[in-house]
Amino acid sequence: MENTVRVALGARSYDVQVGPGLIATAGARIAPLLDRPRVAVLTDETVAALHLAPLRAALSAQGIAMSALALPAGEATKSWPHFTRAVEWLLAEKIERRDVVVALGGGVIGDLAGFAAAVLRRGVRFVQIPTSLLAQVDSSVGGKTGINAPQGKNLIGAFHQPSLVLADTDVLATLPPRDFLAGYGEVVKYGLLGDADFFEWLERHGPEMAAGDMAARVEAVTRSVRMKAEIVARDETEQGDRALLNLGHTFCHALEAATGYSDRLLHGEGVAIGCALAFELSARLGLCAQEAPSRVRAHLAQMGTRRDLRDIPGDLPGAEALLALMAQDKKVVDGQLRFILARSIGQAFVTSDVPRAQVLGLLDDALRATP
Ligand code: GLY
Repeated sequence: MENTVRVALGARSYDVQVGPGLIATAGARIAPLLDRPRVAVLTDETVAALHLAPLRAALSAQGIAMSALALPAGEATKSWPHFTRAVEWLLAEKIERRDVVVALGGGVIGDLAGFAAAVLRRGVRFVQIPTSLLAQVDSSVGGKTGINAPQGKNLIGAFHQPSLVLADTDVLATLPPRDFLAGYGEVVKYGLLGDADFFEWLERHGPEMAAGDMAARVEAVTRSVRMKAEIVARDETEQGDRALLNLGHTFCHALEAATGYSDRLLHGEGVAIGCALAFELSARLGLCAQEAPSRVRAHLAQMGTRRDLRDIPGDLPGAEALLALMAQDKKVVDGQLRFILARSIGQAFVTSDVPRAQVLGLLDDALRATP
């Protein structure tokens, strides 16, 4: 029950291995990359308590020495002070140009460790061992690395592809249910943006996957990664098609900003709500059938994922203020908001051609539906 997805990027190609038990066998998987038998692991305190000892044992079984730095868990770690600490620790550990850094954690650690690897001695190789569903299906694949700036999320960074990704589906059992479901927002995104068959598969098998069925988990992560790998291979640095991966994200980023990047809304929850809004907008613009947004929301309801503005606790700003937050999005080009809309489930496209009044009307109605 293990799959390998190749990310085809010429000399920077790499494998994403998906399946249970990968941490337990990480030593043998990482060994072929090493020039000398040692690695430096960046992780966070929560993940370290759960998964660092098994990783150390797996490396040691192959004679690989490991040193580790555990940073605090949470988005605040994706900042200059923690980044500086990580890079200085790697230098103190005498990690050399031909060594390998291992990122053991969710999206925060993967992004920060990848960026540290990108700049350390002008670039060292790194291995991603993603421990959240979101990181397994999205952030660990494709080479986007970086940290947040006071001006916004992910504004400082580099494209730096990993040399190997080990998506161990056993670790998903250790996630709090809310985090798992938030990650599911990114899984469903792949079906919605480019694979109607996958969306249908999720309608049938999503609940058993959430309940812990391992074969369903491996299949869902593999199909997500396969789609991401195809898109990244076509457009590594987001000149075109890669923007499709941002389905639901323009709305999501505005909602995350409006809720102060707090526990009120997790990123994946914002993606699920954003996908529902993107399909509603597509239907209102006559681009897709009226049934499509209902079907999207019905599936999110079936999974127990947040799907409406009313699922976000506390007050939200008005439609004008949300639209102003959307205008801060990185995807704004020449002041024009870019949306990922859809012609049907599985057929998304990028457009700047959306009348402001339609977006305002959509947000107004969605806000009015809140209690
Ligand atoms: N998470 C979107 C991307 O990797 O392009």
